[in-house]
Amino acid sequence: MCGIVGYIGCRQAASVLLDGLSRLEYRGYDSAGMAVRSGGSDVVVVKAKGRLKALSDKTDAGRMLEGTCGIGHTRWATHGEPSELNAHPHISDDCAVVGVHNGIIENYQELKEKLLKKGYAFNSQTDTEVAVKLVDYYYKKDAAADPVKALSRAMVRIRGSYALALMFKDYPEEIFAARKDSPMIIGVEKGETYIASDVPAILKYTRNVYYIGNMEIARLQQGTATFYNLDKEEIDKELVEITWNAEAAEKAGFEHFMMKEIHEQPKAVRDTLNSVLKDGLLDLSSVGLTESEIGRISQIYIVACGSAYHAGVVGQYVIEKLARVSVRVELASEFRYRDPILDPDGLVIVISQSGETADTLAALREAKQRGIKTLAIVNVVGSSIAREADKIFYTLAGPEIAVATTKAYSAQLIACYAIAVEFGRCRQTVSDVDYKRYLEELAVLPTKINKIIEDKERLQWFAAKHANAKDIFFIGRGIDYAVCLEGSLKLKEISYIHSEAYAAGELKHGTISLIEDGTLVVSVLTQPELYEKTLSNLVEVKSRGAYCMGLTTVGNYKIEDTAEFVTYIPQIEPCFAASLAVVPLQLLSYYISLARGLDVDKPRNLAKSVTVE
Ligand code: G6P
Repeated sequence: MCGIVGYIGCRQAASVLLDGLSRLEYRGYDSAGMAVRSGGSDVVVVKAKGRLKALSDKTDAGRMLEGTCGIGHTRWATHGEPSELNAHPHISDDCAVVGVHNGIIENYQELKEKLLKKGYAFNSQTDTEVAVKLVDYYYKKDAAADPVKALSRAMVRIRGSYALALMFKDYPEEIFAARKDSPMIIGVEKGETYIASDVPAILKYTRNVYYIGNMEIARLQQGTATFYNLDKEEIDKELVEITWNAEAAEKAGFEHFMMKEIHEQPKAVRDTLNSVLKDGLLDLSSVGLTESEIGRISQIYIVACGSAYHAGVVGQYVIEKLARVSVRVELASEFRYRDPILDPDGLVIVISQSGETADTLAALREAKQRGIKTLAIVNVVGSSIAREADKIFYTLAGPEIAVATTKAYSAQLIACYAIAVEFGRCRQTVSDVDYKRYLEELAVLPTKINKIIEDKERLQWFAAKHANAKDIFFIGRGIDYAVCLEGSLKLKEISYIHSEAYAAGELKHGTISLIEDGTLVVSVLTQPELYEKTLSNLVEVKSRGAYCMGLTTVGNYKIEDTAEFVTYIPQIEPCFAASLAVVPLQLLSYYISLARGLDVDKPRNLAKSVTVE
């Protein structure tokens, strides 16, 4: 996602900032900016849309910005389109406070309204400008004009996640920082202090870092850093030496981006859900859907490619079940050429991580041309699909680097659930009691996903034993079948093992002939009403020599009579079980690929964003 770099020392700050930001480019961004000041003089802010090169060109590689103290930022749009106006740093009207921010401020609307009443004006659509002006407000309200105090007061009011780096006009050669749930580190060398959202940004300059803790504040001066808790009491910190190399640091200590992104799923799920919650209830107004509009939709068409299509298959089951609207899910490459018959009162939902997939974009254009309303579930803000769709539901998964998607898929599922539950409420097919229960179940998904990830070693052991498999079959029914499609694709993508996902009941109509002695069959059984049925199918393959793995919910212990290896997921409302069941399958593929010594993050023949037909 976004990147932060800050510097105070003896060198010109701008060149250090540009260099540091360039080390964070891999995270993805759409605009960049810097604020630099020289001693007590006014701060100069420069921003540019697009690549970092644009910012570098605009400042003559930083030479135009005089000063030894500065903060820089690469922005990956969440609130507001990618533009120079929305790029960071943001600054208070009289330039007293200037700041950059990573994370999402969930109650920014509420805070903005408060500040508007106090006479503040806003130039951008970002939550960051709200944060900067909130700090400015508390800073000026207090006669002591103490940045630490102002930050601590703002932190009490802000909900969400943030890594904030700020400069105050009255405090030359100093940077102040605060963080909650968004990474930030502080590096120190003789007479120089650095701040960064990720280690690689400053690794070239220092290996001595402090980790600023959650809900802590830091005051940076040349060569020193002082830390405070929320009560403004000074706290001691240990200086840690970083021993990683630069590439490992970009992966935050994980061996591969895919594993890092698997671990980021709870956050992706939480952020995406929170983006459509208002006062604890679902609110799709930010997506552009009104209650009466939802009530009138007669048919939904979900169109996507690859894993996004698989998220759509889950969406189909869940939306039909909860909202009782007929859903048809289709591959974009088919939809665009089949001259589809579209109900004019219907809604086409396209799903895409990149927002640039050629077939999905063409399908969207086809739908629009036929005059039907379109909604895009997209991860990349400002992408072509996001720009062209009538309505946008952004998934907040952050940039995904590994070719095989994990966290974006998980965030897409949440978007589908939110649509299903909210459509159900508006169409009165979901009762008040169930509505409340669904929201509670969605809220605990991140914790449950974490629990599964924590138990990954068992899967690693199992994966190592099957790394040489020739064929692997995935079977399930209903939502479990949809999860199988994704599990099988993950495996194919990164392990190069032939695999098929089959609706368990369909197996006997052909595919069962492929089962031989020792063939691995992975069965997914999370749907209570289908459990016995799929279990019978598992018995059928076992009696033909298959080696069976079961993936089911805690409590379904009967499966151990049939399956040789079982992975349990926590209990969950069955409609949302795909979010849990997919995680062990991602881990299984990852570990098989690892055991085979393959390039997990960049599998052969595949591209992250397929912009050709
Ligand atoms: C490529 C990727 C897949 C992805 C698909 C759709 O094939 O390798 O992981 O699911 O494109 O991409 P999109 O960006 O539209 O979600």
